[in-house]
Amino acid sequence: MNTLMRRALLLMHSRTYCIKQYAVAGTEAAAKGKLNYEEFIDSRHQQAQRSIVVQVSSEKSYPELYNYCSRFGHIVTVQHYCVQHEDVLHYMLLEYASAGEATAAITSSAYNAELSGSSSGSGSGCGVPVRSPFLWFRAATAGAGRRGQAKLAANHKALPLSTIDGTRPPTHDYLQELLRGANSIEQQLQLLYDQTRLNDLGVRMRFLAALQVQESISGMFPDALAQPFGSSVNGFGKMGCDLDLILRFDGKTTANGLDSQREASRLIYHTKENLSNGRSQTQRQMECIGDVLHLFLPGVCHVRRILQARVPIIKYHHEHLDLEVDLSMSNLTGFYMSELLYMFGELDSRVRPLTFSVRRWAQSCGLTNPSPGRWITNFSLTCLVMFFMQQLRQPILPAIGALAKAASATDIRVTEDGINCTFARDMERVGFQSRNTSSLSELLLQFFEFYSQFDFHNRAISLNEGRALAKPDHSAMYIVNPLEQLLNVSKNVSLEECERLRIEVRNAAWMLESEVENTTLTESERREQSWGLLNLFKNPEKSVIRPNMFFKPRMVEVSDLFDKSQTAAMTPPAVNYKNATVRQQVQSIKAAARNELKQLRESSTTTATTAAKTKRSR
Ligand code: GTP
Ligand code: MG
Repeated sequence: MNTLMRRALLLMHSRTYCIKQYAVAGTEAAAKGKLNYEEFIDSRHQQAQRSIVVQVSSEKSYPELYNYCSRFGHIVTVQHYCVQHEDVLHYMLLEYASAGEATAAITSSAYNAELSGSSSGSGSGCGVPVRSPFLWFRAATAGAGRRGQAKLAANHKALPLSTIDGTRPPTHDYLQELLRGANSIEQQLQLLYDQTRLNDLGVRMRFLAALQVQESISGMFPDALAQPFGSSVNGFGKMGCDLDLILRFDGKTTANGLDSQREASRLIYHTKENLSNGRSQTQRQMECIGDVLHLFLPGVCHVRRILQARVPIIKYHHEHLDLEVDLSMSNLTGFYMSELLYMFGELDSRVRPLTFSVRRWAQSCGLTNPSPGRWITNFSLTCLVMFFMQQLRQPILPAIGALAKAASATDIRVTEDGINCTFARDMERVGFQSRNTSSLSELLLQFFEFYSQFDFHNRAISLNEGRALAKPDHSAMYIVNPLEQLLNVSKNVSLEECERLRIEVRNAAWMLESEVENTTLTESERREQSWGLLNLFKNPEKSVIRPNMFFKPRMVEVSDLFDKSQTAAMTPPAVNYKNATVRQQVQSIKAAARNELKQLRESSTTTATTAAKTKRSR
């Protein structure tokens, strides 16, 4: 009871303070010239409300579209993008000066059913007449076309398109050429980040996807808020990354200060009583939201419900945005974790490019994989990079514990299930100043060296403390979940994948070291052949230690590990390592792996014997 009361009190505090926080939004930002996370999120939500997406036949339709849409208000910016379907589909994302102007454009739009003369969409095969910011621009009828042309002639100064084909990621060849033409590994690292990170258009599109979900239910749930989080907003997203979205029925209550206004009211809404427990209630609600998305929302397709997961989600694809979306309803810690990562990225300009290169390296050597499994996730990998920057002799990032200590009353945040996400949002309060002057390329090399020495076997990584701790259980890799410190972020990582990581970081360290030392290439040679980062990202044909030398393929069943005949057949061919340190390191990895396999085998025998005994005694 006490705990519950404490949580309720904290929740009340958090709500009160959220309101205050929003009240000052904008003023602090203006003073600093930088947006904090909440201000950034808020400004993007507002921008989405001023925006519409219009499908056109090609970018050549732009002047006509601009001319037509100008009648609803002042257009501030227009960006063009393509979606590869059976054909290439073209879209324009228009931002008006005010939300009212965008609403006017949306409200003026006709339904397809009206084109075919049907009075109602239902039953006519033309689709339900649903309202959303996703529109298409039909060809002008003869008369209207002439009028439009005449007006266009008078108003020919269309704003230049600020982007054409704005979501196309750079091709592999283009990126290769660009990186070859760089002056240094340092420049390669920066170029890679600049060229592949999620751009402004990508962020706008993601907030429009959120707005569409939110507005689809706003009649019944006027306080509903669909909040993007994860790599779409934390500054670590690359072009084409998925959209993580939390839908909260009461999300706007805190933001607009509605709670305090309503506190005095004597009129209380009648609401439905929750009949089942919290989790199955959420699952039922999500099922229902999934149906709404699936049946009614334009662009939403391939809806999948994954309701048994720790955090139940609905996955879908948005075909007008070419976007994968993961929608949850109870994952506020993910939102606050994204805030922490956003703050870290803002604190030092090296944080994001370094993380990008590590993520790309991990992808290129197959350590990460878009589908969930026993391999390390991008989020865990990001935690490894953050931890590396915390534990340096001259740290680049502070420990999260220091942020928690410096929190003021306005920083109190508690999730709906009582998880405390309180930490200082204003870095000046933390008083952290890095004296680290290492270059990006030095840091990348140090990152690889650090994790090639890290004792994953016995140590856990704590971003809260900024140092390694004794490992509390036998997980192959242990990263203390910064916001729920009893959980392990990398619990899914298998022993085999952890070993692969250790091997790959060693390879990378060696490779990068030789690249840094290799200054003999002339400028024309650099343009013609791979060097620097390109050699690191190349599939590991040049790499010295191949992980499957002593492990079977990744989809291995645990039981297979105990099959002696197969284990014997896996004995790696003898390899001559040039470098004595590497030779020694490989030997010790092999020994450690053999030891662990032996222990696993022994414990399985013990378990099997115990199980057999138990069976007999029944
Ligand atoms: P990509 O989608 O791979 O680009 O990266 P991502 O950072 O978006 O990762 P993902 O979609 O897997 O997770 C979305 C966000 O949820 C992350 O950025 C974190 O903020 C948060 N998150 C994911 N896993 C955990 C976890 O185990 N603990 C906590 N506290 N947050 C997590
Ligand atoms: Mg994500």
